[in-house]
Amino acid sequence: RNAPVTVAVTGGAGQIAYGLLFRIASGAMLGADTPVRLRLLEIPAAVGSLEGVAMELEDGAFPLLESIDISDDPWVGFAGANIAVLVGARPRTAGMERSDLLAANGTIFTEQGAAINASAADDVKVLVVGNPANTNAFIAMSNAPDVPAERFTAMTRLDHNRAIAQLAKKTGAPAADIARIAIWGNHSATQFPDLAHATIDGRPALDRIDDPAWLTDDFIPTVQQRGTAIIQARGASSAASAASAALDHIHDWVRGTAEGDWVSMAVPSDGSYGVPEGLISSFPVTCANGTYTIVPDLPLDDFARSRIEATVAELIQERDAVIDLGFAKRA
Ligand code: NAI
Repeated sequence: RNAPVTVAVTGGAGQIAYGLLFRIASGAMLGADTPVRLRLLEIPAAVGSLEGVAMELEDGAFPLLESIDISDDPWVGFAGANIAVLVGARPRTAGMERSDLLAANGTIFTEQGAAINASAADDVKVLVVGNPANTNAFIAMSNAPDVPAERFTAMTRLDHNRAIAQLAKKTGAPAADIARIAIWGNHSATQFPDLAHATIDGRPALDRIDDPAWLTDDFIPTVQQRGTAIIQARGASSAASAASAALDHIHDWVRGTAEGDWVSMAVPSDGSYGVPEGLISSFPVTCANGTYTIVPDLPLDDFARSRIEATVAELIQERDAVIDLGFAKRA
């Protein structure tokens, strides 16, 4: 057995957390050899509901679950956290301007970044799920000067998994045979899901697709709009699949990616592929020994370059807006 790992999760009474916490407790995130201590955060109005979730977690009698602590104070909630999954965010409500949304989340992620800086474990790894995820992660990172910047990441794994699913459906190949999918840029409708390097059973995936229009007219918009399609069909936003992707993100970051494959994570850019340094943008990455590396030197054609440029331009705009609002400083 490994030493217990302390996992803080915000938005603990929400939809995604309801799909996430039980699987963390069962060992699906960190492995069946790793006990977990959960620290759950909510806003004061939702603490009662969170107590109910904690009762259900107790009733799971999970052998790996050592403790459950609840708080509405980030300075308490993140104490000792080795992993912090920031799910809670302020959703856009009717009549809310984009600047109001950025400001409401700016306040939340400024405080959470500062609290993580002050109280989390030295090895803390942060995953931001709450939207706008990339920019919320940028704000938290900017307010945690003592935590290495590369520990702040945002989730594009759901988009990555959706891309695998669409390719599997199109070709009839099992998801397990598909590798080297890449999501570039923002977790938004401008993201670029890229099949140029994807393989099925080790051979180029694009060789299995005989209609070239499928890529631009079907695959890319389907992955970009999948969140909206699920809201329309289900009457609520994707929650279980988002929880599953969050588990995958942390699992692979901590335990490593499969030989020969990579995953997509939004991480602070090191300047690779022309993405400005420090911008939290999605890249294909490999993980080993608890760290990730952006996959270097992939050849990009003009189509890929222009798609990446467009989604990165949106991220730059979001970054500049939160800098103007005072939530982060220019690098
Ligand atoms: P939800 O509304 O069911 O739950 C969110 C919870 O967060 C609520 O219980 C709320 O009280 C709590 N919360 C809000 N502010 C908080 C704060 N400052 N501290 C602690 N808790 C706080 O929403 P759901 O469905 O769980 O989604 C959560 C977020 O994840 C949303 O922002 C959503 O847009 C985003 N999302 C991101 C995806 C991604 O791929 N990156 C995919 C799906 C959803």
